[in-house]
Amino acid sequence: MNVYDTERMVDVMAHEGYSVTDTPDDADLVVLNTCHIREKAAEKVYSDIGRLRVQKEKRAKKDGKQSILAVGGCVAQAEGAEIQKRAPVVDMVFGPQTYHRLPEMTKEADAIKQAGERPRILDTDLSVSEKFESLSKKGVSNKKTAFLTVQEGCDKFCTYCVVPYTRGGEFSRAFEDVMQDAMKLNDAGVLEVTLLGQNVNAYHGMSKAGEEWSLARMIRHLADTTDFERIRYTTSHPQDMTDELIAVHGEIEQCMPYLHLPVQAGSDKIVKAMNRHHTIASYMKIIEDVRKARPDIALSGDFIVGFPGETDADFQETMKVVRDVNYAQAYSFMYSERPGTPAADWEDQVEEHVKAERLAELQDELNKQQRAFNDASVGKTMPVLLERIGKEATHLVGRSPYMQAVYVDVKDVNVVDRVFGQMVDMKIESAGPRSLKGELVLK
Ligand code: 5AD
Ligand code: SF4
Repeated sequence: MNVYDTERMVDVMAHEGYSVTDTPDDADLVVLNTCHIREKAAEKVYSDIGRLRVQKEKRAKKDGKQSILAVGGCVAQAEGAEIQKRAPVVDMVFGPQTYHRLPEMTKEADAIKQAGERPRILDTDLSVSEKFESLSKKGVSNKKTAFLTVQEGCDKFCTYCVVPYTRGGEFSRAFEDVMQDAMKLNDAGVLEVTLLGQNVNAYHGMSKAGEEWSLARMIRHLADTTDFERIRYTTSHPQDMTDELIAVHGEIEQCMPYLHLPVQAGSDKIVKAMNRHHTIASYMKIIEDVRKARPDIALSGDFIVGFPGETDADFQETMKVVRDVNYAQAYSFMYSERPGTPAADWEDQVEEHVKAERLAELQDELNKQQRAFNDASVGKTMPVLLERIGKEATHLVGRSPYMQAVYVDVKDVNVVDRVFGQMVDMKIESAGPRSLKGELVLK
């Protein structure tokens, strides 16, 4: 979501004549787009501000240029006033729902600076619909893969999570608005679209005709009315994994065989304390049904270890779920106390060293599973959308249908020109822990 937001910030500022620089040293405007989900990410903001302050002062001394330093995103939303107090060098603070107003904020900051004063702009309003209305008027880039936000925010209030507070309540964009953006991407030649939302499968946008659209129906409609060859969505909640959406995985060719469905923990006691609204049995039933609909589906998830009250036995239940599901890839974290969330105040916090040990055991198993999944791809031929240049000018990188990074050395720059941005068949030659290497199967 932050990558998507950053791209939109680049879009809105491009209309003001700004372009992206390679380093902050050359920038008139530096935006830190921040994440508040775990403490580590949030703390990083202050060390980054420290470094940028030095760079800003150097630039002012050398060229007399006054750059603007802005902090956006969820840390800004949660701690805006605190940032202004702790780091007076920051000129602008704005949340995830107000970055469409960056041009106005920047102009205001410039004017204040010219008048010899210090800007202290703060805009952390949480009304989402105005943002999308404003962003939809802007153009799109010429990439072959794109994110498309259909939903934002969350009403689930998991007891560890800041999202409902920093991104606000659940908001589904109107059907026609999503389709308008989808058609723009389609006309720009996008081949792969990822529908985005903190709780994307809770999508329930209304149409002008007063009909409610589910995510499943939206995917079917996009498959019917666009040239998208690949449709993905992320991220989902087990409670909203409907039979209709599971069926889409079996029936719609464009719906990619990859599902990121976080379970967070493997014991009923812990998922209940997390306020996850599902049981381990109901999660396992979804996995079974999805695999029935699409046997080759690659499964992914998120895990938190060391949630308050988690015993060794609870943690072993997480390990059991992991072994039973067999993930293609997954993300795992130590529980991090977030201010303002219920679990942060609970007494039965788990010691840091215990969290670290559990995380190491879990990641060891997840890494083995990912490696096994990658190894099983060797010898297969699969379509890969070559979307990035790799380390060398002849190295191209893309994604397999299962979200694996696949790289190829085409050895000749003329071939790069021919296949870059294309969906090509690749025969997988070898596998690594995090990626695959393939060769082109040219027709
Ligand atoms: N501590 C650790 N991990 C967290 N996540 C969300 N909040 C926390 C927290 N307080 C993880 C969850 C979520 C992912 C985006 O981040 O696993 O699915
Ligand atoms: Fe956070 Fe996801 Fe829970 Fe919403 S469903 S509160 S975004 S972890």
